[in-house]
Amino acid sequence: MESTVTVPGGRRIPRLGFGTYQIAPRDTEQRVGEALRAGYRHIDTARYYRNEKGVGAAVRASGLVRDDIWITSKLPIDADGADEVNRAVDATVDALGTHVDLYLIHWPRPRHGRYPRTWQALRSAQAAGRLREIGVSNFHQAQLDRILADGGPPPAVNQIEAHPHFANNAVRRFCAERGIAVAAWSPLGAGSVLRDPTIAAVAREAGRSPAQVILRWHLQRGDIVLPKASTPQRIRQNAAVFDFALDARQMTRIDQLDRGEAGRTGPNPERL
Ligand SMILES: NC(=O)c1ccc[n+]([C@@H]2O[C@H](COP(=O)([O-])OP(=O)(O)OC[C@H]3O[C@@H](n4cnc5c(N)ncnc54)[C@H](OP(=O)(O)O)[C@@H]3O)[C@@H](O)[C@H]2O)c1
Repeated sequence: MESTVTVPGGRRIPRLGFGTYQIAPRDTEQRVGEALRAGYRHIDTARYYRNEKGVGAAVRASGLVRDDIWITSKLPIDADGADEVNRAVDATVDALGTHVDLYLIHWPRPRHGRYPRTWQALRSAQAAGRLREIGVSNFHQAQLDRILADGGPPPAVNQIEAHPHFANNAVRRFCAERGIAVAAWSPLGAGSVLRDPTIAAVAREAGRSPAQVILRWHLQRGDIVLPKASTPQRIRQNAAVFDFALDARQMTRIDQLDRGEAGRTGPNPERL
């Protein structure tokens, strides 16, 4: 199992990312530092999380080579148009104290209809050398079709809700056809899937924890995962997922837990 996903430009995104949503700014440097020590080489943050500064501080304090770490961040949810995108890029780079490897449109908010313009602004920022890779989050096929219509390169990544109770396979399939890497947010269903009895049974069989079994299922599906955890023990446990494998029967048992729309933990992005 490759521990990275290669995007069309040749850059390699570490498949195991540390999620930082709801990590308070004052705790961020320490938690991200713990994650880097545990072996994570990808950190997921956003303007909205208000903790980019702590992410940058942890990266600097880690003593690791900057190019060995991948930082994903996201535009403010209401950023729109070139000026706001450029201001947001400046604010992110300033807070991180280093470049951002991947910058995403956080939510398409299709009812506002502004995401195609925002995507063009991200493309321009990338062409101007201000951003390395650009991508989207919470985009469904309709929004992807719309931004792909200009014939330009596809987003490097679509970061979407995905976990055993909400497999999100239609969007994942479309992304696979278009060469867009998928990153799973709330990969543990924001914690809810950890209590699923089938997960517990597979975990017992594999001699691993429920969280490890769920993360392994994602990785074997080919996705990037972004689990968040608060204690050093959980942070380390979630990183120990590259030294075992689920067999086809165990994968199928977990595939069968999909509840479709009813399994979402977050909002349907098309309704925002
Ligand atoms: N793009 C978007 O719109 C979007 C939306 C939501 C999330 N995200 C990203 O996805 C990341 C992860 O999502 P998430 O935080 O919602 O959910 P998650 O990673 O699916 O689950 C986190 C929950 O699981 C618990 N947990 C983690 N590891 C555990 C373990 N080994 N044993 C027991 N419990 C464990 C955590 O508890 P403790 O924290 O108490 O340890 C926390 O309550 C976010 O941090 C963010 O980076 C992106």
